[in-house]
Amino acid sequence: MATSETPATGQGTGRRESGRSLRELADLITPMAIRVAVTLRIPQQVSGGRLTAQALAANTNTDPDVLERILLHLAAVGVLTRDDGGLFGLTPVGAQMLVENDMVANPDFLDLNTVAGRAELSFVHLLDVARSGDTVAYSAQYGTSFWDDLGKEPSSAVHFDQVMADGMKKRVQEIAEAYDWGALGNVVDVGGGNGTLLVGLLRAHPGLRGTVVDRDAEPATRAFRDAGLSDRAAALSGNFLEPLPPGAGGYVVSRIQSDWNDADVRTILGHCADAAGTRGRVVVVDEFAAEEGVRTDSETDLRMLMYYGGKERTMEQVRQLAADVGLSVTSLRRAADWTIMELSRAPRGYRPVPTG
Ligand SMILES: C[S@@+](CC[C@H](N)C(=O)[O-])C[C@H]1O[C@@H](n2cnc3c(N)ncnc32)[C@H](O)[C@@H]1O
Repeated sequence: MATSETPATGQGTGRRESGRSLRELADLITPMAIRVAVTLRIPQQVSGGRLTAQALAANTNTDPDVLERILLHLAAVGVLTRDDGGLFGLTPVGAQMLVENDMVANPDFLDLNTVAGRAELSFVHLLDVARSGDTVAYSAQYGTSFWDDLGKEPSSAVHFDQVMADGMKKRVQEIAEAYDWGALGNVVDVGGGNGTLLVGLLRAHPGLRGTVVDRDAEPATRAFRDAGLSDRAAALSGNFLEPLPPGAGGYVVSRIQSDWNDADVRTILGHCADAAGTRGRVVVVDEFAAEEGVRTDSETDLRMLMYYGGKERTMEQVRQLAADVGLSVTSLRRAADWTIMELSRAPRGYRPVPTG
């Protein structure tokens, strides 16, 4: 068994379980060189036949000397091949730069011209964030919030929605079956994106009606039309940091809380609670962090911090924020690897469901 004294790999070399040295772990050069290659579509150009740096520079309108030095580095670290004639091609690792719609090597994610790719560059502000505790790195870098920037770039907004929808589609059937959505009568999906969750809920519960409230109603409106659900589903452009349409049976908050700081989460849950009143429910759907101090995904946690000033939260942390606005947990259900947390304004004497 590996312990801190007995590294699992590279014993005696000072390496940790990752198999990478501290220098490799701290390197900013290779990640930036890969991102430049993705942004310039170098992988696409050499995948059909190897090319010289000069040819690639001409194709990409870049400086031949600088581009060759970048390509030579990528060859040195095993991302590109270079033969004796100076022709560059892809190694198997480099070929991952071609994989479409894969968050591991998603070209859109690595492309420095997209919102997702731009967001990664905000990590240069990590020290400022560590010092201040409340700097939002994305806004510090670009002078605008992630969401406002996303709204300006339609292709990035579509891509973002698609990534969200892909994750949702894998679980929507289980989410629809794990909780009695039909009993709510009508739901507002708060920040419901392109409507993927609501479509799944309405298909599984024929008596249910629903409304997505998101920054841009158009993607969900289109999804409801395409699904033949326009008679039971609608979308509104709106801001969940402001009051929500009142009177629905349920206010769904799916994968929203980790994008916001504690004060904003209280605001969002508070608006849901006010709109739900004493009869409605607030239903948080999310993958919670495992426990205090142990992040299920530390990369995502730091991305939440840098992009939005948010965080990965445990169920108990969300329960506490909900309690701050007068909401108590009334049921908990598992759906795939996510949790459905039902909250309501607690009647006097109500015994809340423990989350610990
Ligand atoms: C992480 S996505 C979650 C989407 C969806 N609920 C899901 O689980 O797939 C966050 C959503 O919040 C929306 N959003 C961000 N800020 C918002 C705001 N102030 N008001 C309304 N929607 C907002 C985004 O447009 C996006 O659709």
